[in-house]
Amino acid sequence: MTEQKATNVTWHNGEVTRSDRFNRLGQKGVTIWFTGLSGSGKSTVAVALEKALHGHGKLSYRLDGDNIRLGINKNLGFSADDRTENIRRIGEISKLYCDTGIITLNSFISPYREDRDQVRRIHEEGGYNFIEVHVNCSLECAESRDPKGLYKKARAGEIKNFTGIDDPYEAPVNPEIVLNTDVMSLEEEIETILDYLQEQRYLILYR
Ligand code: ADX
Repeated sequence: MTEQKATNVTWHNGEVTRSDRFNRLGQKGVTIWFTGLSGSGKSTVAVALEKALHGHGKLSYRLDGDNIRLGINKNLGFSADDRTENIRRIGEISKLYCDTGIITLNSFISPYREDRDQVRRIHEEGGYNFIEVHVNCSLECAESRDPKGLYKKARAGEIKNFTGIDDPYEAPVNPEIVLNTDVMSLEEEIETILDYLQEQRYLILYR
């Protein structure tokens, strides 16, 4: 738990409610959290899902590990503490997006179970929706894809603390969705998520 440093601060409510915003957009905010090894397909799935949701008339926005680390989280590296802070900040940002009514697609390795569970907790405590998607593929498969050539560098000792090589990845215990990306096609993966969103009534018009 991060310590609350500022004192004498209180939450200031507005006069437009969460429901008012959801009504305005005709949709309900939700955080969809993709976790998995580097190269597992998190960003690829998020990009395709964003496009599919756009086609369904839904507003979504992607928060992506690499992109976020070039901006708001540029002061964080890959130590356990920095990864925890990376996920904490994104969890809070995602909660804010959720409150606006935007479907937020988060692609972060987020290797520590406790960090992801903490993001789930802050969502659930605030009455926000959180869907954890395990983008699951074997290390062998991720390493054979190696889209950025980082596994090769990590194996050569040029990158330290690389997830799956010399840093841990803790798989989710009870995720809402598992995508086995070494055997599923991208189309099947998107269909699986859309089916879930349909069942949970995220794709209907919010009223
Ligand atoms: S997380 O562990 O803190 O969730 P995040 O998803 O933001 O990681 O960033 C991971 C991306 O950073 C990888 O896709 C990869 O491109 C890059 N990267 C650079 N160094 C490392 C490392 N040591 N471990 C994992 N990813 C790394």
